[in-house]
Amino acid sequence: MILLAVESSCDETAVAVVEDGRKVRSDAIASQVDMHTIYGGVVPEIASRKHLEAIYPLADQALRDAGVTRRDIDAVACTYAPGLIGAVLVGVNFAKSAAYGLGVPLVPVHHVRGHIAANYITHPDLEPPFLCLCVSGGNTLLVDVQDYTKMRLLGATRDDAAGECFDKVARVLGIGYPGGGPMDRLSQGGDPNRYRLPRSKVGGAPLDMSFSGLKTAALNLIHNARQKGEELNLPDFAASFAAAVADELVPRAMLASEELGYGKVACAGGVAANSTIRARLEEACARRGDRLYLPKLSLCGDNGAMIGCQGYYEFLAGNLGDSSLNGYANREIGLDCPAPWRK
Ligand code: KG4
Repeated sequence: MILLAVESSCDETAVAVVEDGRKVRSDAIASQVDMHTIYGGVVPEIASRKHLEAIYPLADQALRDAGVTRRDIDAVACTYAPGLIGAVLVGVNFAKSAAYGLGVPLVPVHHVRGHIAANYITHPDLEPPFLCLCVSGGNTLLVDVQDYTKMRLLGATRDDAAGECFDKVARVLGIGYPGGGPMDRLSQGGDPNRYRLPRSKVGGAPLDMSFSGLKTAALNLIHNARQKGEELNLPDFAASFAAAVADELVPRAMLASEELGYGKVACAGGVAANSTIRARLEEACARRGDRLYLPKLSLCGDNGAMIGCQGYYEFLAGNLGDSSLNGYANREIGLDCPAPWRK
């Protein structure tokens, strides 16, 4: 079965052709990073317009790269939530038109379920159930992946996402946007114990996280040093910050894994590319005897292949959309797509 899959929830337009869930025939991506770099963050209205410009030629490119024609497409999948609403709607409307025009089913996909599915592409042997730590620019969640389309939210950030924190701190340091990659490179060889940064505890919710205190503390540390004319040791600072983020994520993931008892832990999303978090997860899983699944680096960030992969499983589960499909800025991962057509 061949799916044409569309992703447009933030600042990457992506269209992929995926066969039978795990075979990626093509994965075309148009990044808008250069445009948003000027502003130090994603400007939602600009993102929507850029998606609109990119999506048609990108779909043609995805078909060409895959060596297929429109007639070979069996279904069209798209991210319908969560994300920047204007951006999501571009992909949803493109996918609705494409499915209608081709006379094939439309498959709505939750963006974070897509990130999780990047692990199925990377690890052909991976099957649910497993625990997944989902960390990206807009989401930070612990998810019980009971089955391909059955998920239970175990914990989440109460405020900022982990990736957003990396981005804001990097912006104030002036080291680039998006900031996670540059912060990661800067942290190599740095001393993670040099700067004291806070760790959070959410009362009564051991699997919930909080990053806003850490972000504020890191920004204050930078501003204070500047006001006093002191030079920060940037590698040490970046390493201390990465350690603080990892301390929010890894122990909670391990606690959740212990509770679930699956013995399988995955990580997903743009921040899953972080070398400190990957190393700390490896150590913690080895200690517990859990098997760890990490997506390959090229599939950590937003891409169409992951939507095609998850779309295949949503299709098999009968989770289809129609022309009334809407986009949503927020949508709980455990819920199926709101579907008036599914009586
Ligand atoms: O998954 P993604 O591409 O978009 C969302 O769905 O949000 O994630 C983007 C986020 C950005 O915040 C970016 O700074 C972060 O992932 N990121 C990283 C790294 N590479 C990307 N954060 C930490 N370390 C990295 N190596």
